Amino acid sequence: MLRKSHCKNKKIIIGVTGGIAAYKIPQLVRLLKKEGAEVQVVLTEAAKTFVTPETLAVLSEKPALSQFFKSNQGEWNNHVHLGLWADAIIIAPAGANTLAKMAHGLCDNLLMSVILSARCPLFVAPAMDLDMWLHPSTQSNVNTLQQRGVHIIEPTEGELASGLSGKGRMAEPEDLFQGLEQHFQPTENFFLNKRVLITAGGTQEAIDPVRFIGNHSTGKMGFAIAEQLVNLGATVELVYGSVTQTPPIGCHHHHTLSAIEMKTKCEELFPTCDVLIMAAAVADYHIKDVAQEKIKKSSDSLTLELVKNPDILKELSDHKKPNQITIGFALETNNEEFHALEKLQKKNLHCIVLNSLQNPQAGFAKDTNEVTVFCNDGSSFNIPAQEKSKVAESLLNNLSKWLTKQNPS
Ligand code: C5P
Repeated sequence: MLRKSHCKNKKIIIGVTGGIAAYKIPQLVRLLKKEGAEVQVVLTEAAKTFVTPETLAVLSEKPALSQFFKSNQGEWNNHVHLGLWADAIIIAPAGANTLAKMAHGLCDNLLMSVILSARCPLFVAPAMDLDMWLHPSTQSNVNTLQQRGVHIIEPTEGELASGLSGKGRMAEPEDLFQGLEQHFQPTENFFLNKRVLITAGGTQEAIDPVRFIGNHSTGKMGFAIAEQLVNLGATVELVYGSVTQTPPIGCHHHHTLSAIEMKTKCEELFPTCDVLIMAAAVADYHIKDVAQEKIKKSSDSLTLELVKNPDILKELSDHKKPNQITIGFALETNNEEFHALEKLQKKNLHCIVLNSLQNPQAGFAKDTNEVTVFCNDGSSFNIPAQEKSKVAESLLNNLSKWLTKQNPS
């Protein structure tokens, strides 16, 4: 029996820009139409040198658009409407010029205004000559787009129109189609109707009534995950320490400060939860004797005795029920992978999320992050640097797939 295509009934805009690979786009239109997608082609003036609007219009069964106005009577192609209509936009081929315009928000044709008005996922299939692809400015533009969540369908290696050979050929129409198929494939939502306990932010260990030992954690990453868990239909118990923003709506909030307070709250909530995600930066030590009064600066030196805090994650994980899932975070300054794997094992976890401190776009107080997840079956996956909300989305989608595979219902 033939499988139903995930592109069926999807509304897809194909943006065609000037490049020899444009001659392959009629094939992409045919594939999508055959699988029941609605296709709207928008092309640049330069694209018309390589493929005719008539061919694209016949195959897509819609006029192929390139102008803002349909006729000299003032009827216009509403780019905002088009941008909002689409379930996905794929720019193929995307030349260096369009990539640069996209990275910088230039808007000098119908296609660019459609792209800027769109709220749907964007796919880009670059195609250009070897050195243009490798040029630092092109690479930097591609990087920028990737960080904004644009899906780049990498060009392939081979003979190029210039006669040179190397990377720069647009991926074949079948591969572009597969990229869209994969995107529309419904992902398993492990978190739907699950009760998830998540911690975020840093802890504060009191020295006296006015001072504490803290850390740089802002809670941004934990909050982004909590928000995404709500979107996925989970019931979220959010335990947070010291943070720099208000916690997301839709969660049950529990504010704690010290590691001991956080532990008490987590112990209370964990027995009724299906999943624990410990994203909080918990202090390893607390002050042995917290001064009851403000410490005066009377002596030249001051020694504070620190006592080890309990490891909340390890203790909860060691006593978890067989169906409970525990996920930790790690932040290392050296031998990152080694230490993360060691923690995965020592703390008896299903997965550990390693924050990359090597990437300048990752870490405390940043709006972007890069993480690598190591799972207890030896598998791992990387989530490249992007907005923390996008990292949270991708992290939970990947975890969802992995957890569904481990716990088939
Ligand atoms: O051992 P380390 O602090 O590097 O481990 C980090 C992970 O352990 C994080 O998930 C953190 O929330 C958790 N942790 C904890 N209790 C502690 C220290 C860390 O739950 N006392």
